[in-house]
Amino acid sequence: MATLKILVVDDEPGIRAGVERILRNFKVDFPFMDEMYDFAVLEAETGERGIEIIESEKPDIVLLDNKLPGIQGVEVLEYVRGKKYDIVVVMITSYASLELAVKATHDGAYDFIPKPFTPQELKSSLENISKQLYLKRMTRKMKNEGKQVRFQFLSVLSHELKAPLNAVEGYLGIMKERQLGLNFDDYNEVIERSLKRLSGMRNLIMDLLDLTKIESGKANQKIEHCDLVNIARGSIDIMMPYAIQKDVEISLNAPEKLMKYVDPDEIEIIFNNLISNAIKYNKDGGTVEIDIYEDTSAKKTTLCVSDTGIGIKEEDKERLFGDFVRIKTAETKNIAGSGLGLSIVKKIVELNKGEITVGSVPDKGSVFTVILPI
Ligand SMILES: Nc1ncnc2c1ncn2[C@@H]1O[C@H](COP(=O)(O)OP(=O)(O)OP(=O)(O)O)[C@@H](O)[C@H]1O
Ligand SMILES: [Mg+2]
Repeated sequence: MATLKILVVDDEPGIRAGVERILRNFKVDFPFMDEMYDFAVLEAETGERGIEIIESEKPDIVLLDNKLPGIQGVEVLEYVRGKKYDIVVVMITSYASLELAVKATHDGAYDFIPKPFTPQELKSSLENISKQLYLKRMTRKMKNEGKQVRFQFLSVLSHELKAPLNAVEGYLGIMKERQLGLNFDDYNEVIERSLKRLSGMRNLIMDLLDLTKIESGKANQKIEHCDLVNIARGSIDIMMPYAIQKDVEISLNAPEKLMKYVDPDEIEIIFNNLISNAIKYNKDGGTVEIDIYEDTSAKKTTLCVSDTGIGIKEEDKERLFGDFVRIKTAETKNIAGSGLGLSIVKKIVELNKGEITVGSVPDKGSVFTVILPI
């Protein structure tokens, strides 16, 4: 149970006592809330006293009469707004001053309750306010804990996994009902499409496995003394079938060996993703160049993958490294991908205290450079 502090500023003792009585056993509970709200009522008979209590108690909600003996309700409202306090202000006004209520709402009052009000009117207004407060607080909490990001990630992920499932289910339905007739060859297209969606799904799952590994952090790194150039050669081999399909030539500029203490799986993920992108977003007959070298100081190692592909616009460069980000253009619309590759690469690079940058000329090509302090 959480308690919301509610301050009643009204010079009529009857109103203050009434609010106290109505809310004494009142609780707000919506199915989506993980705890109920009840209310603690504070009272002030003037605006001046109200401000004192606002300062000392920081209430969640203020029920504010406008016609007060000293300063007026709207001035208290102005005060709260001026201080940018996170307080929901509700004006209590008679119908006669409706115009004022409208103005107050315009000036930042959340709601107004006409006087005299029934217990039910007060309760339903507070139910709404509590719901808003709850959602606002949850959002803030989630944001603080990075859950907001996680939540978005999971919703996109489930969507990305559901889409191919639905597609394949649809295609199987077509086959089950023999919708294209009894000639088996007529189903080739449907089968091809199913296979393509399944392979996309497999890639997504592989990406996710990579992500889980990285997210578990340093603890799961398996640092070994290994040859970066050899890892790059392995990646090139894996990617070769795709390169051949697109008639893209891959070349490697590197020393014979470059021994470093790294997690070989991580380096392989970096190469696989950068090289696969350099092929995927290349032009037919293009080239991919991979450079691996050590700074003279030997404190830094650079892995560089450049292509002669479609390139990336300046304004898209920062975005690329986000989860599920794909740049949609006429050229990329038929290229499959989950948009996780570069975000995984960036996470690995950061885990290793390195940096990744991208340079590109649209329509000419792109260069991805990873610098690792190893
Ligand atoms: N070498 C490149 N040239 C041009 N655009 C690129 C290049 N590499 C990445 N991009 C753009 O950046 C986007 C994000 O790349 P990323 O590798 O994260 O995802 P993806 O290739 O779409 O999917 P996957 O998760 O399968 O790698 C791509 O969709 C593409 O638009
Ligand atoms: Mg990719």
